[in-house]
Amino acid sequence: MAVSNPFTHERHGSACLSVENVCFSWPSGLQVLKNCTFRIPKPGLWMLVGSNGSGKSTLFRLIQGMLRPQAGCINCALKPSLMFQNPDHQLLLPTCRSDLLLSLPRDLTHSEKQIRIKEVLGQVHLEDFESRPIHTLSGGQKQRLALAGALASQSNLLLLDEPTALLDPRSQKGVLRIVQKLARQSENPITALWITHRLEELHYCDGAARMEKGQVGSWVSGELLIQRLNRLAGRRV
Ligand SMILES: Nc1ncnc2c1ncn2[C@@H]1O[C@H](COP(=O)(O)OP(=O)(O)O)[C@@H](O)[C@H]1O
Ligand SMILES: [Mg+2]
Repeated sequence: MAVSNPFTHERHGSACLSVENVCFSWPSGLQVLKNCTFRIPKPGLWMLVGSNGSGKSTLFRLIQGMLRPQAGCINCALKPSLMFQNPDHQLLLPTCRSDLLLSLPRDLTHSEKQIRIKEVLGQVHLEDFESRPIHTLSGGQKQRLALAGALASQSNLLLLDEPTALLDPRSQKGVLRIVQKLARQSENPITALWITHRLEELHYCDGAARMEKGQVGSWVSGELLIQRLNRLAGRRV
């Protein structure tokens, strides 16, 4: 069953994110995105699957504003934050508290900062981790701290680039459940765009699409995308 297809049903509605006919080539001439067009119609957990080199990470850099499209446009009503496979690439300071302080809005008072740090640590199930040195955290805990940092920075669009690729199954589920909960909460649900190669993760999403040849396909349910990908894999054998 198809879920709200942004190309047909939501064309004129307001979208959290819209990418229209975006083209992007690297200086080598390699064209990575070719008239890439898709919309995220509402908050939720949206997943993208695509083979290596299909342009997923480049798309995230364009949405985040680190790269500019050479044609087309990206309209984003939200504040994006990128999260990588390896949390060590984004956790900078020695303790959980000092790292989160870096992400908080500067205009908060000392006590407001204190309250907010406790709140975001609670949202990722790291209560009482405030003074823990980052090097003592497990991979899953580090990834959850990176999530807390995104929340502390008031980001409401999480761009998660294979965030569980380095995690064991238990930590993987922990991160998945937290992001799913944040995306489904009644007050200020976040929008999460999650790249994965692990098809079992598609069961958690609100919509899934395949990225290939520089384009994003239509949103379908995670279960339907799993079926389609398994059929394709069967044909290749
Ligand atoms: N900084 C870069 N400079 C030149 N080419 C790049 C750069 N980053 C990625 N590419 C190339 O762009 C293509 C798409 O890469 P990427 O967006 O990382 O794909 P994916 O994340 O789907 O694996 C690949 O061929 C890759 O080698
Ligand atoms: Mg990538």
